[in-house]
Amino acid sequence: MLTLNANDITPLYKQLYQQIREQVLSGRLAAHAKLPSVRDLAAELATSRNTVEGAYQELYAEGYIYSRERSGYFVSVLDHDVAPLPAAPKPRAADSACTPVDYRYDFHPARLDPASFPSAIWRRCFIESLQEHGRELAGYPADFQGDWELRCHLQGYLERSRGVICEPEQIVICSGLQQGLDLVAHLLKESHGSVAVEDPGYPLPRSVFHNNQFRVVPVPVRASGIDLVRLRESGASIVYVTPSHQLPLGYVMPIASRLKVIEWAEAGGNLVIEDDYDSELRYHGKPIPSLQGLRPDANIIYTGTFSKILSPALRMSYLVLPRALLAPFRALYRDYFPTVSLLEQKTMERFMAQGFWERHIRRMRITCQKKHDALLNSIERHFGNRAVVVGQGAGLHVVLQLLAENPGEAEIMQRAARQGIHLLPFSATCATGESGAANLLLGFGGMTSAEADEGIRLLSGLCFGNSSARAD
Ligand SMILES: Cc1ncc(COP(=O)(O)O)c(C=O)c1O
Repeated sequence: MLTLNANDITPLYKQLYQQIREQVLSGRLAAHAKLPSVRDLAAELATSRNTVEGAYQELYAEGYIYSRERSGYFVSVLDHDVAPLPAAPKPRAADSACTPVDYRYDFHPARLDPASFPSAIWRRCFIESLQEHGRELAGYPADFQGDWELRCHLQGYLERSRGVICEPEQIVICSGLQQGLDLVAHLLKESHGSVAVEDPGYPLPRSVFHNNQFRVVPVPVRASGIDLVRLRESGASIVYVTPSHQLPLGYVMPIASRLKVIEWAEAGGNLVIEDDYDSELRYHGKPIPSLQGLRPDANIIYTGTFSKILSPALRMSYLVLPRALLAPFRALYRDYFPTVSLLEQKTMERFMAQGFWERHIRRMRITCQKKHDALLNSIERHFGNRAVVVGQGAGLHVVLQLLAENPGEAEIMQRAARQGIHLLPFSATCATGESGAANLLLGFGGMTSAEADEGIRLLSGLCFGNSSARAD
C-alpha cells in the first residue's frame, strides 16, 4: 500500500518514489507489472498529478520502470545479482516442535497417505459451494453449532453406520477433538471437578482437561474394558473412553463393560465421553455399534472426526451432546461464532450429500485393510516370534510388544530416528510417561506397504542387540 505523509519533510514525490522503488526491489512489484496511471494514482492518494509524475520520472530515469507508448509505465526486469532479493521467510528454529520433518519411514499413527485425499472431487464440491454460497461469505455464519445441512447429513450417517441415535440439534461441528473437548470442559467445570482417562490412553485430552483445571485421574484399561472398580474409586464424575477401538491397545470394550459404564454414568449423575475416532476402519468382523446408541438418553457425549478417513489437516470433527446439556451449552456459547469455515462445512456437506463420503470410506477401508494385512505380514517375516501384535483388525495402527531382550524404548527411538524412522513413543500414552515393557506403536496409514516393509525390516534389526540392519 502506498501512503503519503504531508507532515514529513521529505517531498511527496520523493516519498512515492521511495515506496515504489522498495516494492520493485523486494519483488512485491513483479517485472512487467503495470503501474497505475498517473491520474488514477493521484486520485487514489488524493495528491496532485505532478507528485505522481515526478516520482515516475525519477523511477524511469533510474531504470526501475520503463514506458510503453500509450500504455503507461511498467516495472523493469532487474538483475537480481545486483538488486536485493525479496526477503525470504524467516526459517523456523531447528528445535521447534512444529518443524515438519521428512522421515523415510513414518510410523506415526495419525498419518494418512497424501494420495488418498480425493482432491478432484473435493475441489469440485468446494467450487460448487463457493458458487452457491458466495453471498454468505459477506457475513458471519449464525449458528455456533455449525451448518444445519451438514449436521442433518451427519445425523443420518451416524445413525446408519454407528447406531448413534440423535437429532441434528444435538450435533456441534468442531475443529478437532481438542476444541470439542475444550468446549465441553469449559461447560462442565463448574459442576464436575475430575475426569478419568484411560491408561494407557490418547494423551491429548489430558492436557485439555488440565488446562480447564480438572483433576485428571488415569484408570487402567484392559481387554475387558476400563477398570470399573478403579473408576468408581477414582472419585471422577466424567470418564473419557475409546470403546470401539481403544487407543493405543486396540481393544473393543465388551458389551458387559459398556453396559456397566452406562450404569455408572446413570446411577451417579456422571458423564461418559465416547471418542469414536476411527470406527469406519474395521477390517474383520462386524462393525461395533457405539455406546451412545445403546442408551441414547444417557449422559453420553459422543465425539467423532473426519481426520482418520479424509484429512487431519481439515480440522473438522463433531460432538453429539446429550439432550440434557443442550440448553446450558447454548446459553454458554450464545455469543460465539462457529470455528470451522463456512466453505469447508458446505464442501463437506456437498461431499456427503452426493454420496462421496461413503464411497470414500469404502475405498479407504479397502486400501487401509491391504496396508494393515501387509504390515502384519512384514512383522511376521521380520520379527517372527520375537514380538507379538496387539490391537490388529481395525484403525491405522497396531502395537508391537517385543518379547525378546531389547534395549528399551528410549534407545530404540534413538536408533530408529538415526535411520529416518519416525515412531510415536508408546510411553506417551501411559500416565507415568513410562511403558514398562518395550511396546512399539506402529501406524501404517501414511506409507506404502513397500515402505512399511522396509521400515519394519530396519526396525527388527535395531530392536534387538546392537543395531545391525542397514538403511541402503
Ligand atoms: C483417540 C483419538 N481421538 C481423536 C483423534 C482425532 O482428533 P482430531 O479430530 O483432533 O484430528 C485421534 C487422532 O489421532 C485419536 O487418536
